[in-house]
Amino acid sequence: MPDTHRVTIGTDTKLHVAEGQSILDAALRANAWMPHSCTQGTCGTCKLKVLRGEVDHGASPEYTLTTAERADGLALGCMATPRSDLIVETLGVVDDGVPHHPLRDYTATVTELADIAANTRRLVVELDDDLTFNAGQYCELLIPGTTVGRQYSMASPPCDARQLEFHVKLTPGGLATDGWIFSSLKVGDAISLRGPLGQFNLVHEQTEPAILIGGGTGLAPLKSIVRHALEHALVPELFLYHGGRRQEDLYDVEYFTELSQQHNNFHYRPALSEEAWEGATGMVTDVVVADFTSCKGMSAYLCGPPAMVEAAVKSLKRRRMAPRKIFREEFTVAA
Ligand code: FAD
Ligand code: FES
Repeated sequence: MPDTHRVTIGTDTKLHVAEGQSILDAALRANAWMPHSCTQGTCGTCKLKVLRGEVDHGASPEYTLTTAERADGLALGCMATPRSDLIVETLGVVDDGVPHHPLRDYTATVTELADIAANTRRLVVELDDDLTFNAGQYCELLIPGTTVGRQYSMASPPCDARQLEFHVKLTPGGLATDGWIFSSLKVGDAISLRGPLGQFNLVHEQTEPAILIGGGTGLAPLKSIVRHALEHALVPELFLYHGGRRQEDLYDVEYFTELSQQHNNFHYRPALSEEAWEGATGMVTDVVVADFTSCKGMSAYLCGPPAMVEAAVKSLKRRRMAPRKIFREEFTVAA
């Protein structure tokens, strides 16, 4: 049994994929871009067609990859490992015009771990080497003592290549959060991670104003995008909405308020769904709908729990935003 399998993607990308390594992981490490989003089997963005050879589907869930699709030769690039040499083709758009950065492993030291909102922590780490990424992308943090990783979006901008900021929400009973980040992890600890991952990003200069809507820690990649966009004057006008239930759920309010005072083209609207206060009240998506009579000609970046993202997409379409202008990142639970 060889230790690696040869995998050909399309006509000219040839890779060696190690035993147990996913096709997507090998491709991204070789800087061969493959469409993907969650890297945990839940979104289906990384679907590919196996033209020759055999794969192990691993833990690919039936709701993402049906029995009929498997029989048809489809596989999830982030979950499938080769059982033989393969020829595959990707189904998504491979050249999306965005510069991509190779996936790599890093070690990092925790420099800050602070409670910033109810059940929410800011985690800052210092990397052992520079990480090049696009604003909006994420890393996978390896849970110590396991081979399991969890995805956390960078809240820091790409210009901070050595220091990454993450916002982490506690999931009661969750392996990474309850079992590690909110219990044993401390400043000075060394952690392992891989990145960058994902295709939720803002890299191009865009001529239209953008609405950014984050639910809970869905604010993280939006913070990176806002900082990057303002620093490089990439977007003419930015409207940031952050949704929470109560005031204790909001964080970085002062930071964004000050930023909005420094930049005339940046607007910040936190919204609470379960508490009356001096700010906007209601579901964050309803607040957006009330603020805009038309979103035609605008674009949007949405991030957070899948239900919030779905609701936001519906609201923006109702306000006539073009679907191709709506970019989304959903914090799905690992398959
Ligand atoms: P897990 O051990 O994964 O458990 C999660 C909970 O779900 C548990 O209560 C478990 O019982 C339940 N559960 C498990 N499986 C199922 C199932 N099939 N159906 C229903 N319930 C189930 N989170 C952040 O806080 N900040 C971020 O910046 C962030 N970025 C992300 C980016 C991406 C692309 C993705 C996909 C997710 C992101 N997340 C982020 C979510 C994060 O990766 C973890 O999923 C989250 O922190 C929970 O991990 P955990 O190990 O603590 O919980
Ligand atoms: Fe593979 Fe989401 S990236 S299923």
